[in-house]
Amino acid sequence: MKWMSILATAAALSMGSAACNNESKEEQPAKPQAGISKQAWGTANGQPVDLYTLRNSKGTVVTITNYGGIVTSFLAKDKNDSVASVVVGFDSIEPYLQSHPYFGAIIGRYGNRIGAGKFSIGDKNYTLATNNGANHLHGGVVGFDKVIWTAAPIVDTLPSLKLSYLSKDGEEGYPGNLQVTVTYTLTEEDGLKMQYEATTDQATPVNLTNHSYFNLTGDTKETIFNHQLQLNADAYTPVDNGLITTGEIRQVAGTPFDFRSPMSIGSRIDSVPGGYDHNYVLNNTDGSLRKVAHLADPVSGRFLEVWTTEPGIQFYSGNFLDGKFINHTGTAVQLHTALCLETQHFPDSPNKKEFPSTILEPGKKYYTETIYKVGVGK
Ligand code: GLA
Repeated sequence: MKWMSILATAAALSMGSAACNNESKEEQPAKPQAGISKQAWGTANGQPVDLYTLRNSKGTVVTITNYGGIVTSFLAKDKNDSVASVVVGFDSIEPYLQSHPYFGAIIGRYGNRIGAGKFSIGDKNYTLATNNGANHLHGGVVGFDKVIWTAAPIVDTLPSLKLSYLSKDGEEGYPGNLQVTVTYTLTEEDGLKMQYEATTDQATPVNLTNHSYFNLTGDTKETIFNHQLQLNADAYTPVDNGLITTGEIRQVAGTPFDFRSPMSIGSRIDSVPGGYDHNYVLNNTDGSLRKVAHLADPVSGRFLEVWTTEPGIQFYSGNFLDGKFINHTGTAVQLHTALCLETQHFPDSPNKKEFPSTILEPGKKYYTETIYKVGVGK
């Protein structure tokens, strides 16, 4: 099994690992030791890339490549202690080099769409690369999901991977040199913490997120229709036919968008043309880290909590998945077999003065934090 080899490699390579200690008492299975290891993972854009394996002392394992900062797997136990990845991903770099729907990747400079790829800051007009009909999506033709990040593994008390990237002035049409770091940390509570930081030398929009696709059953042979979702959001931002926010903030009460109490995703999806692909306006937006979403799968018993400092979250029910990609488990990733919960500022904010600003000014620091925490129970 490929997972067994990843786990074995992780144990053998783990910094500070006790994996080779034969003197320990035989009846005591060795407690997994927290750590991070690295393995060569082929080439992308003509350069070598690596796969990093983060492991906590409970044996939860996350793998991340520095190509696109992609989370390729998040191995978690179910209620029967059976281990599977709760995120869609692949065992080799090759599928990620094809045109894919951002599986597990870091998204930037701007998560989601900017209408017509145009915006202005002060009296300056900017035109971005358009890659989604007439619109700009997820940072453009070569967004942060397709670049090689400089990786620095950190072993402190917890395993962390610090990824850095300099997005140059003019890249995809954006102004300013933007220095970005994304630090992934695997906590002892089975949280994948993502800390996003950026600075710039010219005012520019910035809206960073992660595009992991979750299926808590651990396999994409099941749709996510039986997953129960709860979102701490009283409102959402409706979109036009091109999926551009209209500027309206609409209450969810009495609509199929109401997830304030846990609801199965499949129960009302037929009333939402195309499926869910909407930004929710999260409650209690004061920039502090709070729990905003709870996703639960009754069959595996697994749950996912999403914590964030961000004001919005894109709930995307995998409406464009089409079976072209084969998951770790050997199953095609078909329509609605995985979902995304992308923490973010609101789509098209640079053109919507009524939305919270996404403009980062020189001398200011961009910082946001999101945690994907998995567990078993309700
Ligand atoms: C986001 C968008 C969707 C789609 C996916 C990628 O979630 O909101 O419309 O573009 O990314 O396929």
